[in-house]
Amino acid sequence: MDSLKIDIGVIIINNICTLKCKKCITLTPYQKRPINFDVENIKQDIDGFFEIFNKCNHFDIEGGETLLHPDIPEIVAHSLKHRDKFKYVALLTNGTIVPQKALLDVCKDNPVFFIIDDYGDKLSNKKAEVIDALEKYGLNYRVDTYHSDSQYCGGWIDMGDFSYKNYSEEELMKRFKNCRATQGIPYIKEGKIFSCTIAAPGISHIPLLPGEYIDLRDKSRTINEKIEIAKNFYKKPIAHCRYCNAFIVSSQRISAAEQFKPGELTDDMKICD
Ligand SMILES: C[S@@+](CC[C@H](N)C(=O)[O-])C[C@H]1O[C@@H](n2cnc3c(N)ncnc32)[C@H](O)[C@@H]1O
Ligand code: SF4
Repeated sequence: MDSLKIDIGVIIINNICTLKCKKCITLTPYQKRPINFDVENIKQDIDGFFEIFNKCNHFDIEGGETLLHPDIPEIVAHSLKHRDKFKYVALLTNGTIVPQKALLDVCKDNPVFFIIDDYGDKLSNKKAEVIDALEKYGLNYRVDTYHSDSQYCGGWIDMGDFSYKNYSEEELMKRFKNCRATQGIPYIKEGKIFSCTIAAPGISHIPLLPGEYIDLRDKSRTINEKIEIAKNFYKKPIAHCRYCNAFIVSSQRISAAEQFKPGELTDDMKICD
């Protein structure tokens, strides 16, 4: 079967979080329906993903806050069934939750790598305990520091307010070609594979067009038909590109994880279904 190789595969397993970052790239604070996604669906989605994308460098599990999902041990164990298709599974976490024993047991002696995003002592307030737990189990991890003057990669990227940008076709193509999202990082979320991180959160006012995503749960399409859709990912801008600043690595960076203050995030700001 003619399946595909990509750089990074990503699955989003929830859209709830312990923090409320204004510029969160998965738009977690802006979700109208914050939940942990169903574990059986997640496992089927992982299997469906690896029928289409046969090789990736690493397979990332994230959210929302990844470790808030009660079935995270089962999700990691299931991902590891596909270990011949990636070098390692990466778990991204914000340093607010100490991994439970069941998760540590699943990860031990397996190719699992933790990325602890350190947003400073006030926010990532369990960082030391997370590190302690990983060290005790001999697990591999990295801390990406995102506070004060030491911001990993210089800080976050502001993807904008997702209003229609009215770019000229030339400007649109320029942004698209320079966007990190076009370098082969498909996102799985709730039964669909999206070519781009900004398409995954489900922004209500941006159309989701046929051919711009793969519906893993659509039994009327064959795997080969789904692979054909995937082959056309990253060839031309999608609808979302017309509303987005683009993930341009060289763009001006912002300080990571600026939080909404209590009462500041109102329901009408929740733009994701
Ligand atoms: C959405 S978070 C989910 C995992 C976890 N809650 C965390 O914050 O680490 C996934 C990754 O995206 C990064 N991220 C979030 N918003 C970003 C932005 N606007 N620009 C660049 N990276 C961003 C985070 O630092 C983290 O490494
Ligand atoms: S910690 Fe911040 S970046 Fe990570 S999912 Fe939560 S709100 Fe988004």
